[in-house]
Amino acid sequence: MNSFKVLLALAAIHGWHLLQLDVNNAFLNGFLDEEVYMRLPLGYTPPDQGQNLVCKLNNSIYGLKKASRQWFTAFSSVVLQIGFTQSPFDHSRFVKGSGDNMVALLVYVDDIVLAGKCLDNLAAVKTFLQQHFKLKDLGNLRYFLGFEIARNSSGISLSQRRYALQLLEDTGSLAKKPAKLPMVPSHKLSATEGDLLPDPQIYRRLIGRLLYLTHNRPDIAYNVHHLSQFVASPRCPHLMVVHHLLAYVKQTPALGLFFSSASNMQLSGFVDADYGACPDTRRSVTGFCIFLGNNLVSWKAKKQQIVSLSSCEAEYRAMATAVCELVWLRSLLSSFKIDVPTASLYCDNQSAIHLANNHVFHEYTKHVEVDCHFIRDKVQDGFIKLFHVRSANQLADIFTKTLHPPAFKSLVLKMILLNIHSSPS
Ligand SMILES: *[C@@H]1O[C@H](CO)[C@@H](O)[C@H](O)[C@H]1NC(C)=O
Ligand SMILES: *[C@@H]1O[C@H](CO)[C@@H](O)[C@H](O)[C@H]1NC(C)=O
Ligand SMILES: *[C@@H]1O[C@H](CO)[C@@H](O)[C@H](O)[C@H]1NC(C)=O
Repeated sequence: MNSFKVLLALAAIHGWHLLQLDVNNAFLNGFLDEEVYMRLPLGYTPPDQGQNLVCKLNNSIYGLKKASRQWFTAFSSVVLQIGFTQSPFDHSRFVKGSGDNMVALLVYVDDIVLAGKCLDNLAAVKTFLQQHFKLKDLGNLRYFLGFEIARNSSGISLSQRRYALQLLEDTGSLAKKPAKLPMVPSHKLSATEGDLLPDPQIYRRLIGRLLYLTHNRPDIAYNVHHLSQFVASPRCPHLMVVHHLLAYVKQTPALGLFFSSASNMQLSGFVDADYGACPDTRRSVTGFCIFLGNNLVSWKAKKQQIVSLSSCEAEYRAMATAVCELVWLRSLLSSFKIDVPTASLYCDNQSAIHLANNHVFHEYTKHVEVDCHFIRDKVQDGFIKLFHVRSANQLADIFTKTLHPPAFKSLVLKMILLNIHSSPS
């Protein structure tokens, strides 16, 4: 999804058109050429047959990986023939030409997006594809993988309003009193307190659906990640917090990103760590967010794999993760022939910045894994420039902890999350 956000940011900045094609389902299913067996859906097993029945598929069913893999192989070979190159950094992305003549093509299962400045070039690619595949022309990109895309003279907005409303309806949350914050600050959840839920599946499904919402909702990324820690054995207090989160979604169903056309192409990131945040494992939490100019294109809230011995070490590990993402973004941009020579990374811990800038400190970080020191290489070769930021201006705070209302509100605004008004169609 980050790759899609980068495409939208570029389209906003460069004024690219965005067109959408849809693969005919029956056509997609025709790509099944092997025998595939499926376990019977729940509730369809005849009582006297036990659990051992399977069914053989005569046709592919929607979402079957095999058929879409075969379709993707066929599709790639055709677009490569007409001069597209496949990005090694994201296999679903193809690019042809450069500058104003460039056409970018993105394919997700049965949805294809074409982007570019020159409408004639886009039309030529579209006609060519339609000669080879059964594709429906959906015109301008409006609705893609559950995201609503709207455009005006100042930029492109992305919202998951319909998806959010459906989630609220399915969970009976529409009648709930809306909540102003995703989670009550200072509320610490533990893996072992409270009664186990009789049916953990309900919790798992909810988390799965909320995770999808976080693609466009950095405001709940930390909370959903936190709650996803408990999917193995969810307990009543966890489910209560999920319901509180749904009440917050009810307050803000249309919140989403806005990609402004008035933006430069600088990469900059904010990174932070909450040291020893997890009460059960003492592991720290990494949080970062990355902007392309004014436009937020990537973020993460994630518990670290390894326990850190100091807050500085936790920050250093978080920096390593953010640097990896910045390097990936630079590579992705290079597949659009956009060169980003440097990226700024802001961190609020001077000691961690020192550690990354300085090779002398080695003794102190002997036990830190070698791959973390990748930061130093990227600082040395001039790509990463590290800067100190006052904790008050630390945007990444929102990815490492639950904040109190004023700070939360101000960060949501700074990330240019807008209440996107419902798009036409
Ligand atoms: C599936 O295929 C089998 C054998 O090839 C055939 O007997 C059966 O009628 C088919 N079922 C459907 C629903 O097409
Ligand atoms: C930064 O790291 C130092 C050294 O580990 C630590 O003492 C300090 O509390 C940290 N500061 C912040 C703001 O995290
Ligand atoms: C474009 O849409 C955004 C998001 O809905 C809105 O905030 C902005 O005011 C709009 N700009 C114009 C010029 O209509």
